[in-house]
Amino acid sequence: MLDTLMQWLHLGAVIVGVGGVAFARFVLIPTAAMLPLEQRAPFMAKAGGRFNPVLWTAIGLILVSGLYNMISSLQAGVDSLYQAVLGVKVLLALMLFAIAFLVTLPFPALASIQKQRPRWLLVNLTLATIIVLLSAALRRM
Ligand code: HEM
Repeated sequence: MLDTLMQWLHLGAVIVGVGGVAFARFVLIPTAAMLPLEQRAPFMAKAGGRFNPVLWTAIGLILVSGLYNMISSLQAGVDSLYQAVLGVKVLLALMLFAIAFLVTLPFPALASIQKQRPRWLLVNLTLATIIVLLSAALRRM
């Protein structure tokens, strides 16, 4: 029962997080670019204020449910290929989380990274695509 709940939580949080970032990158940011310059920054700040807590919550839930999934698969006994693929997946996931925090945390020191936000969101969407592919492979090992 707990396994099912954690799988549901993991997938649900991934859907909300990755879906939200794809929407921001391909719909919200290009549409905001059509606004007059003086309205663009306040609009994006408001949108970020609403979406960022949702994203941070999704990351927290992915981490907790992912660690649970990982402990239960390792306890069930897995081969070395599974462990290697899982290791790569976790490494990519930690990179994805680090980029997500660097582009969303409201610290002035991060301003230069945040100027390149569209590029970093694209990097994260690419990482997410690879991670989902590795997860599908893990399920079949
Ligand atoms: C440190 C972070 C993470 C850990 C420890 C983790 C761990 C796991 C584990 C152990 C599984 C089960 C694999 C199996 O079926 O044998 C799993 C499934 C999955 N994970 Fe993660 N994961 C993490 C982050 C992520 C991220 C960031 C994404 C997406 C961007 C993701 C997407 C998925 C998907 C799509 C599945 C397949 C679920 C299913 O088949 O029901 N995971 N994860």
